[in-house]
Amino acid sequence: MTADLGAFSLEELSSLQELLGLLRELRGVDFGGYRVATLARRVRNRMIAANLQSLDAYLGRLRDDPAEPDALIERLTIKVSRFFRGAGAFEAVARALEARRQALPGRRLAVWSAGCGQGEEPYSLAMLLDGLQPPGDAPDVTATDLDPAALAAAAAATYRDAALEELPAALRAQHLVRRDGRWEVAPALRRRVRLLRDDLTVAAPPPGAFDLVACRNTLIYFQPALQERVLERLAGALVPGGLLWLGEAEWLAGAVASRFGVVDRRARLFEARTCVAAT
Ligand SMILES: C[S@@+](CC[C@H](N)C(=O)[O-])C[C@H]1O[C@@H](n2cnc3c(N)ncnc32)[C@H](O)[C@@H]1O
Repeated sequence: MTADLGAFSLEELSSLQELLGLLRELRGVDFGGYRVATLARRVRNRMIAANLQSLDAYLGRLRDDPAEPDALIERLTIKVSRFFRGAGAFEAVARALEARRQALPGRRLAVWSAGCGQGEEPYSLAMLLDGLQPPGDAPDVTATDLDPAALAAAAAATYRDAALEELPAALRAQHLVRRDGRWEVAPALRRRVRLLRDDLTVAAPPPGAFDLVACRNTLIYFQPALQERVLERLAGALVPGGLLWLGEAEWLAGAVASRFGVVDRRARLFEARTCVAAT
């Protein structure tokens, strides 16, 4: 266990385990493999918001108030994001997608934004694809998240100015409209994205087969063993030669690493090898 327990005593940590067990029971969501310090800080924040002094009192609230489990899940999942987050990395991804389109003429590129937050990332990826291929019959970006509140915000698709700080002005003019002091994603771009609930930590099959899987700034909240498990699932969602894109503080871990080559180290962009040499 880490030295930083997010301001919880050891005694409180066993209540934290009880709390995670209760969330599993009530909502089928398992935060057991997440980093303890982050969880502890977030639970503490929620307790303060609920005006409760002890973790035991908060456990009571979680059992008795049917709205509380969802409020806690909302607090435990961190949604900070923006359009074209890490614009330099987006350029590397745009180049790699263009190369793939040229190498596979006639193929429609399919992208998964896993841990999509409130939609900033999948709509940004849809802008890239809009520059590469005409709209098809089905959406070309699948955007998934654990938190229904994040998916509801992504479906509403309206954003504050701060979310657009890295978005090139030409793309803003093309795909967003100003309404009631916020920026709204235009319907044509929304149609390129389908939103689904998906829990990365479960053993279920991924929601399709993709040319690019973006899972950025989500693995960072998981302990190493869970990171490795989730990376296996992400790798299993790629077509041969497909691309895996991680966040700037993330890297490949575990056995799955040998199945990838590095496309762009700074961008954290990797390519699934089409065949792995026998050892
Ligand atoms: C910090 S946001 C990242 C948003 C975007 N990918 C980016 O890089 O800006 C992390 C997202 O991961 C989601 N998340 C956390 N645990 C998850 C899980 N087990 N399965 C799917 N999504 C999860 C959170 O709800 C949150 O929306």
